[in-house]
Amino acid sequence: MQRVIIAGVSEKKHPHAFPHKFLINNRHIDVKLALINIRQLVTVSSAGERVKVGAAMRDLGIIDNAAVMIDHEVITWIGRMKDLSMSSLGGETEVLDCMERVVLPGFVDAHTHLLFAGNREDEFAERAAGATYQQIAAEGGGILKTVKAVRETTKKDLKKNARRHLSAMMKHGTTTVEIKSGYGLDAHAEVKMLEAINELDNEEVMRIVPTFLGAHAVPPEYGDRKAEYVNEVMNRLIPYIGSKKLAAFCDVFCERSYFELEESRSILMQGKQFGMLPKIHADELTPLGGAELAAEVGAVSADHLEHISENGIAALARSGTVAVLLPGVSFFLNHGYAPARALIEAGVPVALASDFNPGSCMSYTIPLMMTIACTQMHMTPEETIAASTLNAAAALNLSHEIGSIEVGKKADLIVLDVPNYKYIPYHFGENHVEKVVKDGVVLEV
Ligand code: NIG
Ligand code: FE
Repeated sequence: MQRVIIAGVSEKKHPHAFPHKFLINNRHIDVKLALINIRQLVTVSSAGERVKVGAAMRDLGIIDNAAVMIDHEVITWIGRMKDLSMSSLGGETEVLDCMERVVLPGFVDAHTHLLFAGNREDEFAERAAGATYQQIAAEGGGILKTVKAVRETTKKDLKKNARRHLSAMMKHGTTTVEIKSGYGLDAHAEVKMLEAINELDNEEVMRIVPTFLGAHAVPPEYGDRKAEYVNEVMNRLIPYIGSKKLAAFCDVFCERSYFELEESRSILMQGKQFGMLPKIHADELTPLGGAELAAEVGAVSADHLEHISENGIAALARSGTVAVLLPGVSFFLNHGYAPARALIEAGVPVALASDFNPGSCMSYTIPLMMTIACTQMHMTPEETIAASTLNAAAALNLSHEIGSIEVGKKADLIVLDVPNYKYIPYHFGENHVEKVVKDGVVLEV
């Protein structure tokens, strides 16, 4: 990804840069970057909300004919073009002429398994011929196939694979991504994954949030000795990873044949003891009660929820846990969708994420997830935007910093070549992102 010093949306069409200071309501502000001529600025929130629920998810705080000022990574001013008068006062301001495009907060992808090795396209073909995800897993494919490949791959090569995906994701508008471990399933390989994830966060433009998912599957060398592996996760892996601060969150695949409710509870509580906040893969394949467990342990998010029960919905509404829905998985595995409407109507904060991984969703394109959420889960375009920005940031405990275009927040913004925001889910299968502003820097993507 290259950095653009001063540019219009299309440099060819608009080659003249104009470094200026700006005069806002007769007050001089020494801005460092200005986005001007925005046809539709989708702020998502203007009230400093941590998360949006219910009808508020449909209010995106849109400003027409807008401009945004940024100083050292931080948004310092938002308003109408008519309230901003340019004057050539010198200074070091970069100007991005958005040429009547639409500007949104960068997408936050709050659930991925982006660090992996190998591939699983044969399983995709088997499912097309009628096999299910569970049948393939029972035959030694699925997660364990990727575990084998990750164990055999060096940290350097894992990072190399991940970099390719990170850069493509950013081209599609994602500026923050959560990445889980969980394809190592032993001390050496789990630490290798988490170190790689942390190093990528330091080295890459993308902001990356690491999650420990040691309880993703029982590793093959444990056979039917699952209790021993749970003990290893709780008493060896969690204390080590917590003390080295390698992960912000601890997640569990709470599911029949993976980790039961009781095991999930113990692991999540132990993670909390060691400074990792709980997240959970809940009620994906069966209605086990993972959502209720998420509420009980104070999880930041409960993810998947394709088979959540009415009790589970009520529990999440009471606890304020963010429901991270993954429509790409339902689409890719063809196994039914989470009840987005019931969740929103019950007042549960709903987020969308890709779940990008080689098995259950080989896509990291958030606008595609938005389209599927509209057509299959009956979310409105507005709700899908709130769910992919502010609410997704809340699922990472980061909505005080990112997820909306508000004064004081980090300047992570995307410029899209669409006539209005509704085109983002509507005109699907095409990348409309033209420019990405990450931490106040314009990137050429
Ligand atoms: O979120 N559900 C469990 N884990 C992943 C799938 C991982 C894989 O198949 O490699 C998920 O869908
Ligand atoms: Fe997942």
